[in-house]
Amino acid sequence: MDFIFHELRQTGHHFDRRRPNPIHRILPCFVLILALIAPALAADKIEISVDADKTGATINRNLFGQFAEHLGHGIYDGIWVGPDSKIPNTRGIRNDVVAALKAIKVPNVRWPGGCFADGYHWRDGIGPHRTVRLNPDWGGVIEPNTFGTHEFMDFIDQIGSHAYVSVNLGSGTVNEAADWLEYMTAGQATTLAKERAANGHSTPYKVAMLGIGNESWDCGGNMSPDYYTSLMKDYSHFVRNYNPAQQAAPGQENKEDMMKIAVGPGGEEPRFVDWTETVMKAYQNHSWSWDINGLSMHNYTVINWQNKFKSTDFGESEYAQFLKATLEMDSLINKYSAIMDKYDPQKKVALIVDEWGSWYAPLPGSNPGFLVQQNSLRDGVLAALNLNIFARHADRVRGANIAQMINVLQAMILTDKEKMVLTPTYYVFKMYVPFQDATFVPVTFDAGTYKHDDVSLPRVDAIAAKDASGKLWLEITNVDPDQPASIELNVSGTSAKSAGGQTLTAPKVDSINTFAAPKTVVPKAIAGKVENGKLTLTVEPKSVTVISVE
Ligand code: AHR
Repeated sequence: MDFIFHELRQTGHHFDRRRPNPIHRILPCFVLILALIAPALAADKIEISVDADKTGATINRNLFGQFAEHLGHGIYDGIWVGPDSKIPNTRGIRNDVVAALKAIKVPNVRWPGGCFADGYHWRDGIGPHRTVRLNPDWGGVIEPNTFGTHEFMDFIDQIGSHAYVSVNLGSGTVNEAADWLEYMTAGQATTLAKERAANGHSTPYKVAMLGIGNESWDCGGNMSPDYYTSLMKDYSHFVRNYNPAQQAAPGQENKEDMMKIAVGPGGEEPRFVDWTETVMKAYQNHSWSWDINGLSMHNYTVINWQNKFKSTDFGESEYAQFLKATLEMDSLINKYSAIMDKYDPQKKVALIVDEWGSWYAPLPGSNPGFLVQQNSLRDGVLAALNLNIFARHADRVRGANIAQMINVLQAMILTDKEKMVLTPTYYVFKMYVPFQDATFVPVTFDAGTYKHDDVSLPRVDAIAAKDASGKLWLEITNVDPDQPASIELNVSGTSAKSAGGQTLTAPKVDSINTFAAPKTVVPKAIAGKVENGKLTLTVEPKSVTVISVE
């Protein structure tokens, strides 16, 4: 109805006693409009049923992983300011960024790339004298290599996370990668371990995940699937983790075993079917001498690579189109999981979506090679929709890394010299912390439909999970930017007694947090009500809500 008054204001109509009252003219239209929208208002109520006794797979904490590449201001300025900086830091690493990341319990950080990884030579980034190079992938700028292995591991330690290291299979050798792993992980006094100690770290580092190349079908070397698979087997065998804490006893599994992740598909193109088939068929026939534990998948949400959408100043049309595009993640996971199921029915190999997120046009005035974009409420909603897709596939999808952590693509954090701002995506990751390692609980609901122009989307999305203490958590995304959704919650046939948590929304779909106004999109408290013995909760339009249910 608001739009009727808005129209009246726009056309400058005023009530005038000498003329017939215009209300009489608009009343029939008003009644007609009410009749038209009544079904929509009735459909506003969404019943969500949670069967807390039926549980599914663990929602692996690694689904909330991050990606930090030597790209633009992702590492330099974003993490690393150097020990002499006026920006408060610990051994060169920004304290504000560390505190913010600790709060979202980052399970792992993938580093040093991306495309950068297949041109990275680890010796450039250790010791007192660093090799200065160019970064040809990302803007051709100087790469000082002041942030190398020790700085990365210090950063991981400061934020309480784990290392996901991508080794160079493109321009490097298996020998170089094997040496790097020995340098990082050897506990005995090998020459490389002694060199590590001389550089300041006598105890071995842990490497939780090892990426064997990156996008080897394109920037990682333009390889054929067979050529890649043959190299990957060598890396799997020779690139060893020697950390005593990461060794399994014969015939046993050690939870700390390093995961080896092979390059997998990168989207819808037919060539990725062949790629996935080749790697997984090889896995099915693998011998004792090599193994993989994960297959990577990359999938960005982007509309038109040549003329990308803007990350700011957009309207409902771009909001609806972009969210529709992001839901393709689900069909892609289905497609590649089906191939994996053929060769690995026991689901031993995890699908690791180690690059995902929104990719927009670079912000005007920024270096196009730095992939700088803003992060709006739309990105918060997009993040929730993707995390829910991963959770629903938790039996196969056991890792994901949003691209990228700071100042690049769909970032958690934006910095500008001493300033820092947290994005809507950051807050979604924070709200989802209770889902890390929680047990998936199935939910049923009729999502309804949100329509805009020719785009139709499920209006509401939801997942549920039980944490280690048995507490039930529910996430509800209301995609509709105009209508609130009143949720009626049924938990295992009995009524829940209370529910409360946090909700993230903002005035507009393109609302953003800026250094000047950092609190435009921040979570606020939300609580359910018990009415007639039923738990109800109204979630605002275009919102992401996480509640615990008692
Ligand atoms: O995240 C930016 C780039 O996107 C990565 O370097 C590459 O792997 C992907 O194509």
